[in-house]
Amino acid sequence: MALKDFKISGYRSIRDVWLKLKQINMIVGPNGSGKSNLYRALYLTSCAAAGRLASSIVEEGGMESILWAGARSRKEMEHAPRVRFSIRVNDYEYNLALGRADDIRPPFFHDDPLIKVEDLFRIKNGHRTTLLRRRNLRISAKDAKGNDSEYTLRMSDNESVLSGLREPLTYPELTMFRQEFLDWRFYHHFRTDQESPLRRPQRSLMTPIMAHNGKDLVPALATIIYSSNPTKFLNALEEAFPGAEVSIQTKGPASATLKMKFPGVSKIFDTSELSDGTLQYLCLLAALLSERPPAFLAINEPETSLHPRLYEPLARLIVNASHQSQLWITTHSQELADHVLDMTGYSPLELEKIDGETRLKGVRLGEHNSKEYLDEDDGEDT
Ligand SMILES: Nc1ncnc2c1ncn2[C@@H]1O[C@H](COP(=O)(O)OP(=O)(O)OP(=O)(O)O)[C@@H](O)[C@H]1O
Ligand SMILES: [Mg+2]
Repeated sequence: MALKDFKISGYRSIRDVWLKLKQINMIVGPNGSGKSNLYRALYLTSCAAAGRLASSIVEEGGMESILWAGARSRKEMEHAPRVRFSIRVNDYEYNLALGRADDIRPPFFHDDPLIKVEDLFRIKNGHRTTLLRRRNLRISAKDAKGNDSEYTLRMSDNESVLSGLREPLTYPELTMFRQEFLDWRFYHHFRTDQESPLRRPQRSLMTPIMAHNGKDLVPALATIIYSSNPTKFLNALEEAFPGAEVSIQTKGPASATLKMKFPGVSKIFDTSELSDGTLQYLCLLAALLSERPPAFLAINEPETSLHPRLYEPLARLIVNASHQSQLWITTHSQELADHVLDMTGYSPLELEKIDGETRLKGVRLGEHNSKEYLDEDDGEDT
């Protein structure tokens, strides 16, 4: 399945943005323009399926921190503030609206989001079928026989229906949509500092999918290197670090280390001694050459610590990975985005910040306005 559209409103610097997505999406913009905010918005939407929505929001500062803090129009002021995410994945549209819990919960829970709206539609031949409709805790869903019925499973108002699904036979389409989401992969940041767990000995465990923070880089690379076809990895390594060799050593189940040898230097380095940029690139190799590529792969600022000479090899890795996965790459580097454009014709989505608000360059304010949400009745406190 492919992510076609992503609409966000009221989330941090994103007052109202509508993205039309392609197979490769390079999102560029200056510091503070909202690249990471967009990435986080997509990550949070996917968290709804995995059951981590509320905890992820609290980890990033809670509802007060994530709600758009800039100006609101008179029309917007008539409604309670909301964070709204809407995605279109092939023939399905999934909408979430989140509000504050201030009025109904003790102060201890005020950072927690309340799910005010959660809808899933099937859209085929211009026809829109409601598969899930939620307004606060009033929930109805279409079952396998095509009947709309009240969804009776007990759930909390900060939990998504998707994450709580337990009856795949009763709700096959909801379950299938959730499964799609669970396959999405996000890499936010690889820690390359001296104390990073990436630099320590790791477990010798088959790892076709590297963890979101790269903490199992060594077994993830070992899984690629010892696969039946390590050629892609060896070619990509040669292109980035000509003449370098990588090997994996282990003396027991939790002592796997990666060794790297560079031409002209007799010493063999292990992960604790590699430069930040080299370690970052090894993480990118493991993410983009995964033995089990996901349907959708997002990487935030992959160029961190990399010398510009590595941008072209990285662009090639991205382009090759796009044959199996739809890609979302947020980057400071126009040069990286230009390499991808030259190789594929996919032009980047350029962000700018105007009056504190993230905007897509070349899109006039209001042109992609998702204001239909504002008219939606989403609960008692609008
Ligand atoms: N609740 C909020 N309301 C409005 N703006 C916010 C809110 N929270 C954060 N911001 C703005 O979002 C901006 C940060 O956006 P983000 O981290 O996405 O930028 P970026 O493009 O990734 O920048 P960098 O290139 O430095 O990583 C900050 O400048 C801040 O002003
Ligand atoms: Mg950023």
